Amino acid sequence: MSRKIVIAGNWKMNKTRAEAAELIKPIVAAIGNKNDISVVVATPFTALETVGNLIGNSSVQLSAQNMCDKASGAFTGETSAAMLRDLHVSHVILGHSERRAIYGETDALVNKKVLAALENNLKPLLCTGETLAEREAGKTLDVNKTQLLAGLEGVSAAQAENVIVAYEPVWAIGTGKTATPEMAQEVHAFIRKVLADKYGEATAQKIRIVYGGSMKPDNVDALLAQPDIDGGLIGGASLVAKDFLALVESGLKAQAKR
Ligand code: 13P
Repeated sequence: MSRKIVIAGNWKMNKTRAEAAELIKPIVAAIGNKNDISVVVATPFTALETVGNLIGNSSVQLSAQNMCDKASGAFTGETSAAMLRDLHVSHVILGHSERRAIYGETDALVNKKVLAALENNLKPLLCTGETLAEREAGKTLDVNKTQLLAGLEGVSAAQAENVIVAYEPVWAIGTGKTATPEMAQEVHAFIRKVLADKYGEATAQKIRIVYGGSMKPDNVDALLAQPDIDGGLIGGASLVAKDFLALVESGLKAQAKR
């Protein structure tokens, strides 16, 4: 059995609707109905409807970058899972290090969001990752294990198959510093072992674990050649259609070799 590679763009807080339309059009034209791999774009909330309309019936999948854990009510500024479903969103990034570090999201809150997403048939892209200080202190595996198990508290094995884990070393995000393929593979293999201990080997083998942190056309092939790296969550390079499509091409090539 081979896991389907995921190439996911995280546009972060970039692109007005007009700019988002310009970016998505060549991507949709190139992907069409190809679905050998999963291609996902996580746009700002304000561009979801515009991009969703342009994606139409193509194979490109639409993601949000965050979500409220609550269903509805007095939560000013928040967006519910049902609101995302209403916009034909299928995925949601949860626990991104920017949400954790800048907006104070805790493991407990991320876990509530993961549960709410799964209950509403949204696939979470659950992010984990260590800071440079944590890596230098030898805490890399512990930090990722803690974030992963906390994020998946109360998630059943059947539900876990719909989770995509994104290993994003904080020191590699937006810095141009990429984890070497060997460094990333070590953490991915460890994450898969933690998943196997929790859910059993068969389930762990089905869960996609993607890498994020300065993934670019010139380093993607070596990363995707690693056995436990099942794709990428891409920031900067996802904002340029040509670069994102080069990453998709690499994903297709790597999938064909699996
Ligand atoms: P960069 O690809 O810009 O390093 O961002 C990675 C990221 O945070 C994706 O979620």
